[in-house]
Parts: sequence; C-alpha cells; structure tokens
Amino acid sequence: MKVLILPDAQAAIARAADIITRAVAAKPDAVLGLATGGTMVPLYDELARRHRDESVSFAQTTSFNLDEYIGLAPDHPCSYHHYMQEAFFDHVDIDPARTHLPKGDAPDPQAASEAYEALIAQAGGIDLQLLGIGQNGHIGFNEPTASLGSRTRIKTLTRSTREANQRYFASFDETPQYAITTGVATILESRKCLLIATGASKAEAVAQMVEGPLAAVCPASALQLHKRATIILDTEAAGNLALRDYYETVHPRGRDSAFD
Ligand code: PGA
Repeated sequence: MKVLILPDAQAAIARAADIITRAVAAKPDAVLGLATGGTMVPLYDELARRHRDESVSFAQTTSFNLDEYIGLAPDHPCSYHHYMQEAFFDHVDIDPARTHLPKGDAPDPQAASEAYEALIAQAGGIDLQLLGIGQNGHIGFNEPTASLGSRTRIKTLTRSTREANQRYFASFDETPQYAITTGVATILESRKCLLIATGASKAEAVAQMVEGPLAAVCPASALQLHKRATIILDTEAAGNLALRDYYETVHPRGRDSAFD
C-alpha cells in the first residue's frame, strides 16, 4: 500500500485529481471505477474544473460506478445515478453511453448484478478504481463481514451506513436498506486502486484498513492484498496510524518517492 498523507482535505483532493488526470492522459480510453459519497464531491468538482480550464478530456473513457440503492429509479434525486449526473457527468465530455451504474430499479436485482459483473469483464476490467471508505470500513457497499471473495450482488446495509446516509433522505425509514454493490473481489481485480479518506471520522476505519488484520470485518483491509493500492489521506484521517512517521518519510507531504 502506498499511503500518502496530505496537509488538508483540499490538498488530498488535488493529489487524487493529479493521479486520475495522469492516468487518463496515459490511457485516454481508460476504464474508470467511480465512487459516490460526500468525499468525492470536491474531487468531481476539481476534475470538472480541469476539464473546463485545462482541457482534461474524458471523451474516450468508460466508467463503472461501485453501487446503487435498490428501489431507486435513475431519476430519483437520491439515487447514485442522479448524484453522478449532477456531480460529474453533466460537467465533462464523457460519453453517456459509456457510463454505467448498477440498475437499482431492475425487476430482478440479482440478475442485474450478474449482468453488471459481466459488463465490467467485457470492458476489459477496471484500470483505476476510485474508492471512499465508510466509518465502518466498508468499500462500495461491502459492509463488515462481506466476503472478501464477493462479486457484484445485493447487500443489506448496516444501521450505521443507513444513519450516515440518512442526511440525503427525508427520514431514516426512507433511507434504502438494500443496494447492489460490486464485490470485494471485483474491486481487488482492478489494475489500480485509489482510496480517498478525509476527516477525523474516518481515522479509525483508515487505521484498521492499513494496519489492522486482513479481516472481513473491515472489508477495506482487503486492499492489503492489492498490488497497486494508493491511499490518500488528510492529516485528520491519518490521525490513528501508528506508522504515520514512516509513511511520511517514504512520501513527504504525499509526494512520489524516488522509486515510484
Ligand atoms: P462519504 O462516504 O464520502 O460520504 O463519507 C464514503 C463511503 O461510505 O464509502
């Protein structure tokens, strides 16, 4: 794992945007794994700005989002389809026909999950997988105790995840209980992973992911098995790391080392 610790959230987002824009410049038809959540909003803003001001183009990229709530149609204001449209797709030149999210309103969500997994494989797999992390250590909606060998499927959301996401809905009861999410094994198959965590509320989950045991109770710890996982943190999210000095020695202020 490459652990990059940046002085603040803004610097962390800029560092992540650098990695993404570099990946797209090197491979304009890259397959991107995209994520949602509050952490990603400023990242998409920054990518949209680079598209507008610096001619960064997503025209040839393909995208697959990690997850979608079951029961929400794409035009539901709280769906991840809607989030992606508003936060990113509407502001860049990505081809809508090459953007993909699981179909939360499919009549048969299990069949839709299997079809989604097949579609990722058909696209040649994911070149760069963007990830957030839940306070409970989830990646995508792979909640604690999710199989580390899992593929795209239906997951029941934990109470803590529903409480964290309740802010987007009218009430807790209206916050969906089920989602389709790509699996931990699907995520591990991506050629590169880029996980971003900012803020003190993520510090414990980040410590478990980076330095805790490899365990399904913290699905993000599966990234310890990934050969090219980069973890971008601000100082608050890095607050519980025992080996923080070491990470900062290897990558001062989150910069590449001489051997990267
Ligand atoms: P957040 O969500 O960015 O809204 O904290 C991250 C996640 O749950 O993966």
